[in-house]
Amino acid sequence: MTFLTARRAPIVLMRPARFDQTSGMPLKSKTAGKLISFEGSEGSGKSTQIVRLASHLQQVGRDVVSVREPGGTEIGEQIRNIIVHNSKGDEMCAETELLLFAAARAQLVREKIAPALSRGAVVLSDRYLDSSTVYQGIGRNLAPDPVQMINRFAVGNVMPDLTVVIDVPTEVSLTRIRLRASDVPNRMERANIDFYNKVREGYLVLARGLPERFTVIDGTKSEDEIAKRIWAEVKARLG
Ligand SMILES: Nc1ncnc2c1ncn2[C@@H]1O[C@H](COP(=O)(O)OP(=O)(O)OP(=O)(O)O)[C@@H](O)[C@H]1O
Ligand SMILES: [Mg+2]
Repeated sequence: MTFLTARRAPIVLMRPARFDQTSGMPLKSKTAGKLISFEGSEGSGKSTQIVRLASHLQQVGRDVVSVREPGGTEIGEQIRNIIVHNSKGDEMCAETELLLFAAARAQLVREKIAPALSRGAVVLSDRYLDSSTVYQGIGRNLAPDPVQMINRFAVGNVMPDLTVVIDVPTEVSLTRIRLRASDVPNRMERANIDFYNKVREGYLVLARGLPERFTVIDGTKSEDEIAKRIWAEVKARLG
């Protein structure tokens, strides 16, 4: 009996009424909240700005939910462990990496993001599907079509209302990462600088192609200045 109850509870959580009955895709209603994703290379300042934006939104009375990728759910954190563990070597192939990130994201969307949006919250996501497009697609040379298909399958219709790309030159992110003692040695230190230049350029290309969803913020400015610019974008685009 206990077993059955334990098995049933998560199913209710993962399948709220906001999922299309036929496709199983999450739906957004007219009363939905807003989803803002933050993208950019390691050390660009995403987490720093998410904390600041969350606090600003709370001050103006908004319900705010912050989530991080990969992870943000119990299942997602387990997937994150596999990815992080494997980042110490180069054994994981790009396809596996793509599917693991997508799996963690699929769980996060259904368990956390869609329910928060349906009650009108502003969801701040530290990375989202564009990270897969850029890191696994452009960075690791996977073909764009399957990456896009897998991305869309994972998130359904839960696309960001706004994506903030914090753009910094690779040398700046490297310098900042080196200052974070807990991150050394990390994946970035071992990886090719060219890879991170490709990632940076990948974000800029995506943003140029979808200006209505993306905003690119110069991450070399002061934290205060960046927070001000992000707030202006959020206010202008989300009302
Ligand atoms: N505008 C800024 N100017 C200088 N340093 C900054 C700025 N924003 C953040 N930092 C510092 O840079 C480091 C990286 O910032 P943060 O952790 O927010 O980046 P991130 O994009 O979340 O990185 P990761 O992808 O590795 O999680 C931190 O030590 C932070 O204090
Ligand atoms: Mg971070």
